[in-house]
Amino acid sequence: MPRRSTFFDDKVVWITGAGTGIGAALTMALAQRGARLIVSSRDESALNRVRDRCAPYTPHVFVLPLDLGHHDHFPNTAAAALAHFGRIDMLVNNGGISQRALVMETDFEVDRRIMAVNYLGQVALTKAVLPHMLAKGFGHIVVVSSIMGKMATPLRSGYCASKHALHGYFNALRSELVRKNIFVTLVCPAGIRTEISQRALTGDGSAYARMDPRQDKGMSPEACAAQIIRAIERRKDEVLVGPAVKYSAYINRFFPWLYNRVIGKIAVT
Ligand SMILES: NC(=O)c1ccc[n+]([C@@H]2O[C@H](COP(=O)([O-])OP(=O)(O)OC[C@H]3O[C@@H](n4cnc5c(N)ncnc54)[C@H](OP(=O)(O)O)[C@@H]3O)[C@@H](O)[C@H]2O)c1
Repeated sequence: MPRRSTFFDDKVVWITGAGTGIGAALTMALAQRGARLIVSSRDESALNRVRDRCAPYTPHVFVLPLDLGHHDHFPNTAAAALAHFGRIDMLVNNGGISQRALVMETDFEVDRRIMAVNYLGQVALTKAVLPHMLAKGFGHIVVVSSIMGKMATPLRSGYCASKHALHGYFNALRSELVRKNIFVTLVCPAGIRTEISQRALTGDGSAYARMDPRQDKGMSPEACAAQIIRAIERRKDEVLVGPAVKYSAYINRFFPWLYNRVIGKIAVT
C-alpha cells in the first residue's frame, strides 16, 4: 500500500545529536514520514547505525559528523549540508550534554564546555543556516532545550544556564522572524529514557556514567519524538514533553517558593 503523504514529505531536515536518544528516535520517525535527513553528532559510527535503521523507509540520509563545540567549522559544514540536497527546510538543534555536580565542585572549564556545546553550538549552527532560509523564504528551527530552560535544580547549574540562555535567544529570534515564514519551536523535555545522565559531565569533566532512576522510568524517546513532530506540524512556539512536566512547570511558575524548597530536598542525592 502506498504511504500517505505527510507534512514532512521531501522536507530536508538537519538534526544534531542524531546518533542516540531523542535525536535517533526523531530521525527514525521523520524517515518514516518521508523526510530527507542530514544527521550530525561526533560519533560517526552511531550516525551510520541510525542511517542503516532508516534504510527501509528512505535512502536519503546524509551522515555529516560535527562537533557542536567547534563553531569555526560550521560555515563549511553547513555548506556541505546545503550542497547535498540543495536546500535545508528545517534545523533541529538537539545535540547537548548534561551535568551532575555541585557548583563548588565544578571546574570552570566544565561550565565553559557546557555553554559552548548547548548554547553557542545551537546559536552558531542556526546562524550558519538562517541566511539560506531567509533567501528561500521558508524554514523551521527547532530547539531542543529542557524543562531546565524554565526552572532549575541542584547539580545542573551550567546545564540550566545553557538551556535558559536558549529561551532568551530563540524567543528573540522568533520575534525577528515574524512575517518571514520562518518558525521557531522550543522543545522542553524532562524525564526521557535516554543515556543523557550517563554521558553527563561531573565536576572534573569526566562522565557521570550512571543512569538516573527517574530517567530510567521515564518516557520512551519514541513517544517524545512523536510529541515533537506534532508540535512542529502545528508550528507551536513551545512544547513541554515528559511525565508530569506540566505539573512541575505549573508549580514553578505559580508557587516558586514551594518549588524552590521542594526541589532542593529531592534533587540533591
Ligand atoms: N533525556 C531527557 O530527559 C532530556 C531532558 C531534557 C532535555 N533533553 C535534551 O535533549 C537533547 C538530546 O538528549 P538525549 O536525552 O537524547 O541524550 P543523548 O542520547 O545523550 O543525546 C545527546 C546527543 O548530543 C550529541 N552531542 C553531545 N555533545 C556533542 C558535541 N560536542 N557535538 C555534537 N554532538 C554532541 C551526542 O552525540 P555524540 O556524543 O556522538 O556527539 C548525542 O547524540 C539534549 O539537548 C538534552 O539536553 C533531554
